[in-house]
Amino acid sequence: MSAQFPVARPRRLRRTPALRRLTAETRLAPADLILPMFVKEGITEPQPVTSMPGVVQHTRESLRKAVHEAAEAGVGGVILFGIPAVKDGTGSAADDPDGIVQLALRDLASDIGDATVIMTDLCLDEYTDHGHCGILTDAGEIDNDATLERYASIAVAQAEAGAAVVGPSGMMDGQVGAIRQALDASGHADVSILSYSVKYASAYYGPFREAAECAPQFGDRSTHQQDPANADESIREVLLDIDEGADMVMVKPAGAYLDIIRRVRDTVDVPLAAYQVSGEYAMIEAAAEKGWIDRDRTIMESLLAIRRAGADMILTYWATEVAKRVR
Ligand code: PBG
Repeated sequence: MSAQFPVARPRRLRRTPALRRLTAETRLAPADLILPMFVKEGITEPQPVTSMPGVVQHTRESLRKAVHEAAEAGVGGVILFGIPAVKDGTGSAADDPDGIVQLALRDLASDIGDATVIMTDLCLDEYTDHGHCGILTDAGEIDNDATLERYASIAVAQAEAGAAVVGPSGMMDGQVGAIRQALDASGHADVSILSYSVKYASAYYGPFREAAECAPQFGDRSTHQQDPANADESIREVLLDIDEGADMVMVKPAGAYLDIIRRVRDTVDVPLAAYQVSGEYAMIEAAAEKGWIDRDRTIMESLLAIRRAGADMILTYWATEVAKRVR
């Protein structure tokens, strides 16, 4: 009876761990992981981030050690976020040659070499006293084009300090073109741009605002970040950025936007990154701490899902830990 003897038995390939390993369609490799890191000016000890257990705001010295550890684990890259001691209306610490990220970049240039790719987040919200991603008009709105000039200058400062890749995350129109032009004009044609092309106005960034001390003092980011209701718009953003010179593009957040990752992957052929953001991290850590989910399995499943959706690279706060596990 055919009911008793099925012809097709997909379970055959799931029978043993070795068979499952052999037939796995998706794998995580250390080189595909990028570690986001915070470095803060004027502290002498690393400061824990309460809403992200296991994540700290680094000193220059602890950053250097953590980058070494990541590189040793085979992590593909690190991306730096700076928290300056003093913030002002124009975020002047962001392109100061002695600003915290530029100092950290010089530290790393001298002792990390090519062991992992050193990247920078390029935005103003960590540097402005109002917490917005750009320069404000008198009416308190973001001045897109005035902000582009600031981004261009920050890109040059970061390149000069040794960034191999800059990651504009401010979602201003024309930012990739402005940065590419400034880099080329200042002798940094070899510095790549990883554009946060698709960035949603997301509640999942909550814990990051504590980590980077950049909660907007009024209003929100919905005039520049994308509406979670939209998908077609993401394709338009990606194509514009590639046209302006993006070498790699990013979708952010990752877990709630797997459909977008897949659509972008099927549309363009540049390397695609996805950012598993602070809220995705915090939710798993918090539920695991309560004993409600298996922490390690949930972490691996969340990352595999992002790879399976089509991301080549994943920015994750678990990068070093997972790199050690999958090596
Ligand atoms: C902006 C920036 C943010 C994140 C990365 N770059 C915050 C925001 O747009 O509000 C969020 C990352 C995360 O939540 O892990 N500089």
